[in-house]
Amino acid sequence: HVHLGIVMQRTFAMLKPDAVEKMGQILKLIIENGFKVTKLKMVQMTKEHALEFYAEHKGKPFLPFLVEYMTSGPVIAMELLAENGVAKWRELLGPTDSEQARKDAPGSIRARFGKDKSLNAAHGSDSCISAERELNIFFPMSRIAQYESPRSTATF
Ligand code: TYD
Ligand code: MG
Repeated sequence: HVHLGIVMQRTFAMLKPDAVEKMGQILKLIIENGFKVTKLKMVQMTKEHALEFYAEHKGKPFLPFLVEYMTSGPVIAMELLAENGVAKWRELLGPTDSEQARKDAPGSIRARFGKDKSLNAAHGSDSCISAERELNIFFPMSRIAQYESPRSTATF
């Protein structure tokens, strides 16, 4: 069927451990850029949790360090909703490497709050399929009241 009007899309965003102390500034940016924060929680990831989350990077040389970083302190996990939300959040994030980001996208979150290609402040899903998988890891269905966020009108 045909959608008329704005197609809202949800994505998964995460502030990595060293960016958690800057959550005020980063959340302000997120909201000012037109995202709705529809879910949010602070959690301490375990090694197993991090390996499941980064399953696509199994075997990569940087994975052990990445897991160490992601489990070094609590992270802030979020569901964000916006028009074209997946790409829009990747755009505000900037390139993976914060040093590159400072050259190519100086206003981006990774440029402003990250350090280099490993310590890059925040995560964003790379597709709608990834967003669904990642949201389910951090916000699984629960027996206790699970907040049902405003549903995206995107078709997957
Ligand atoms: P990747 O999915 O390629 O980047 P993105 O987060 O932009 O989707 O990589 C996942 C994370 O792994 C990345 O945010 C930081 C870390 N990483 C490194 O530490 N070294 C590297 O060379 C790469 C490519 C990633
Ligand atoms: Mg990625």
